[in-house]
Amino acid sequence: MFMKEKNIKFKSLKKQIFYIGDFNKMNEKLLSIAKQMVIKGKGILAADESTPTCSKRFESIGVESTYESRNEYRDMLMGTDGLNEYISGVIMFDETLRQSTTCDDKTPFPEYLSSRGILPGIKVDTGAKTLAGFENEKITEGLDGLRDRLNNYYKLGARFAKWRAVITIGDDMPSDACIYANAHALARYARLCQEAGLVPIVEPEVLMDGSHTIETCYEVSQRTLNVVFEQLIMQHVLLEGIVLKPNMIISALNCNDQADINKVAELTFKCLKDNVPSDVPGIAFLSGGQSSDLASAHLNAMNKKYSNEMPWNVTFSYGRALQQDALNAWYGSNRKKGQAALLNRAKNNSLSSKGLASDLYENVN
Ligand code: 13P
Repeated sequence: MFMKEKNIKFKSLKKQIFYIGDFNKMNEKLLSIAKQMVIKGKGILAADESTPTCSKRFESIGVESTYESRNEYRDMLMGTDGLNEYISGVIMFDETLRQSTTCDDKTPFPEYLSSRGILPGIKVDTGAKTLAGFENEKITEGLDGLRDRLNNYYKLGARFAKWRAVITIGDDMPSDACIYANAHALARYARLCQEAGLVPIVEPEVLMDGSHTIETCYEVSQRTLNVVFEQLIMQHVLLEGIVLKPNMIISALNCNDQADINKVAELTFKCLKDNVPSDVPGIAFLSGGQSSDLASAHLNAMNKKYSNEMPWNVTFSYGRALQQDALNAWYGSNRKKGQAALLNRAKNNSLSSKGLASDLYENVN
C-alpha cells in the first residue's frame, strides 16, 4: 500500500482513538518528551544491557562483572562531559536506574541525567523467550504486572521506556504467529507506557543473523512494521507519543552479497516511508551487530539523501555501535579514555543524524 493511502487509513483510525480517549494534558507531555528524544542532532544511548549481557561484554575485556563494576562502567558513560550535546536520552537497565554516581554526592542516575538535560529511560521487557509451538522463534515477555512497574519507574524518574521484540529470519521464519504475538505485546506495552506518562520506544528488531539477502530483510521488515502499526492503532496507542526503533534494511551477517551503503540507505528509507505513518515523530535505529562505522555511515547516507522526504526525524539509539570503543578504551579502569571514545562516537553519530558525516566514512563498507 502506498504511503498516501496508508496515511488516510491511519488518519481515519486515529480519529476513532481521539473520540474514545481525549487529547489531554498527559498526551501533550508525551508528545513533548517524544520530540525531545529525537530532536535534530541528538540520539539515544542504549546502555540497558541486562546483567548477563553486560557480563558478556565485560568478559571480552577481562573485567569481572559485579554490582560495583557495572555501576562504575555506567557512571563512566553517563559522566562524560559534553554528552548532552549529542545524546537526548539514556536507556538503563533496572539495576542501573536504582544506582547512583560513584563520586561523593552519590546522585541517583535518573536525577543526575535530568540535571544535565538528558532524559532517563528504562528497559521494561523481561527478555525474549522461546515462542511455544515455534521452537526457533522468540516472544518477548514482561506484560504481567507491567502497569505497577511502570508507575514505579515513573516515580524513580524515568520518562521513557523500551521493549524489544526479536524477529528471526530462517527457513519458514518468521511465522505470522511470531510477528503477530510480538506486535500485540509491543502494542499492549506501548499503551500501558502512555497511560503511565512514559514514552514507549517500540523496537521490533529483525535480526541480521543468518545468510539472507537485503531483499529478504526488506520483505520481512515491511511485513513486521505493517503488523506492528496495525496493532498499535488497535490498542489505541498515540502514534505522536512513541519513538520507533527499527533495524536498518541490510544484508545478513553471512550473506555473500553484502549490499553497499547507498543500497542500505535506499531500501531502509523506502521501507520506512511505505510503512511508518507520518504521525510518528522520530525513528531511532538500533545498530544490531553492525560495526560502529557502518552503523554511522548508513545513518549518514539516509539523512544526506532523503531528509527532505522524511516526515520523521531519523537518528540513532545504538548500544554496541556507541559503546564498543568506549568499553575497549575503558578496559576496567581508564575512565578518561573511555569517555573520550564515547564522546567521539556520539559526536560522529550526531553528524550522521544530520547527514553531515560523509567525510568520516568515505572508505567504510
Ligand atoms: P544495539 O545497537 O547494540 O543493537 O543495541 C540497541 C538496543 O537497544 C537493543 O535492544
